[in-house]
Amino acid sequence: MIPARSLRLVRPVFVVVLLLLASAAQAQRSLSFEAYGVPAEGAVAVTVRQGAVLEGAFAAVDARTGGGLQRAVATAGFLGDRGTMLNLPGVGPYQQVVLVGIGADLASPRLLEDVGGLVGQAGVTSAAPRIELLWPDASVPTAGAHLALGAALGGYTFRQYRNPKPGAPVLGQGTIVLRIANADASRAAWESDWRHVAEGVRFARDLATEPGNAVYPEEFVARARKAFEGVRGVRIEVLDERAMARLGMRSILAVGVGSARPPRLFVARYTGGPEGEAPIAFVGKGITFDTGGISLKPNENMWRMKYDMTGAASSVGAVLALARRGAKVNAIAVAALAENMPSGTAARPGDVVRTASGQTYEIMSTDAEGRMVLVDALWFVQTRDQPRAIIDIATLTGSQVTALGDEYAGLFARDETLATQLLAAGAASGEEVWRLPLHPSYAKDLESPIADLRNAGSSGKAGAGLGAFFIGAWVQPGVAWAHLDIASMAWRDDPALPTVPLGASGYGVRLFDRFVRDHVEAAR
Ligand code: BES
Ligand code: MN
Ligand code: ZN
Repeated sequence: MIPARSLRLVRPVFVVVLLLLASAAQAQRSLSFEAYGVPAEGAVAVTVRQGAVLEGAFAAVDARTGGGLQRAVATAGFLGDRGTMLNLPGVGPYQQVVLVGIGADLASPRLLEDVGGLVGQAGVTSAAPRIELLWPDASVPTAGAHLALGAALGGYTFRQYRNPKPGAPVLGQGTIVLRIANADASRAAWESDWRHVAEGVRFARDLATEPGNAVYPEEFVARARKAFEGVRGVRIEVLDERAMARLGMRSILAVGVGSARPPRLFVARYTGGPEGEAPIAFVGKGITFDTGGISLKPNENMWRMKYDMTGAASSVGAVLALARRGAKVNAIAVAALAENMPSGTAARPGDVVRTASGQTYEIMSTDAEGRMVLVDALWFVQTRDQPRAIIDIATLTGSQVTALGDEYAGLFARDETLATQLLAAGAASGEEVWRLPLHPSYAKDLESPIADLRNAGSSGKAGAGLGAFFIGAWVQPGVAWAHLDIASMAWRDDPALPTVPLGASGYGVRLFDRFVRDHVEAAR
């Protein structure tokens, strides 16, 4: 028998070893940039144009396999359509050849990100320590940075809670090497700029993937604080429930009051633009778990409601990316954090809530909690910071999922300029939005006999629009405001997209980054 004392010594060592193993298994492939060239062996990734036209890197690698690659392509019926991939282990002298279809499209940042994304995904399931992605086309000077962004996003994994199986091969470790023209320019663009966008997305994905028992409002705040450590130009403010009570924020408090985990308001203010210029505020719904509260949800798929804080994570992830890359903008992230639980202290349907602005509403459903946390956050940022534009982002309604499915977030706006800019940023970033109406008639369905409004309608019509309309009632005149309902976009179901693997998407970070690049920074 082992004496108890030595057990006590053995246990910590064992735990440390397990942790080391776990963290090793968790690390993503690193990225590096080298001059273009065609290696004679190892693992390579090459692009294939529509019709599997034998040219470029594909032709060069095929020649080294004695035509084996062409035969593999013909046998698999691989046509080089955009977004397709053929993953071939062991072809000729190569350990692995990853073929990525690019269709008939010309090189663009989005295409490059998709190519990188598919290679990143192939890298997750490969034992090859070094995968070389060959891109001879020099038409985009910083092509490598976009390939790298794609590879970082497509190669995303979350393995924090999985212990490595003893004896299992180690997959997904090592490096993706971008073999490109202008390697130095690409490396510089990656290091100073695009790497930070990838980090912002990773931050949002990690938080949305984390279960509700791990990430609750206070823990969200702790993680966000940590992410901003050492980042210049950022001031952080956190309101606890007492601070919120003092400001009369009974709406966010009403959502959190049934939970043992108290709500929080997290604010990160980044000043990278001209002094005194009014900021842009990104306000995110941060329900760390949405049971529905007393208006309890059915159990089926309820587990997914851990991602009901994606809007908050994306707002914070976006401002993190902006600050880290030193964007020339003044931007604020507000995360409205609460856990929506049923309990003896929870708010009830029928309760009347007085919000921080003084405006009141009657609760029709405690499951319409996103709008409840957002309106106090909106009031807060408007009175404190006088932003020139506010974009709120929320997994707000099942109705948005029904209306738009997997490809578009719902955009609601009364400001034409802001709407147009967000539509353009969506198309450019690949995080697309589709505009839906905010008809004045929605007011009728939100009338309450005893309060200024009610938090949900009874017609069962235009659910996403009613949610947007409710939130809009807390926007002061003259403020450019847009609401994004990302219920369908926050979590990716099969099929994956090149830069969005299955699970938490981190939707919004790239959209907001692109919006700032093209419509704030470039517009000066
Ligand atoms: N978080 C949900 C919305 C949701 C649904 C997000 C599915 C992602 C996938 C939200 O809090 C909610 O429950 N909305 C209600 C609103 C209704 C009670 C007015 C809904 O859409 O049913
Ligand atoms: Mn809900
Ligand atoms: Zn919700």
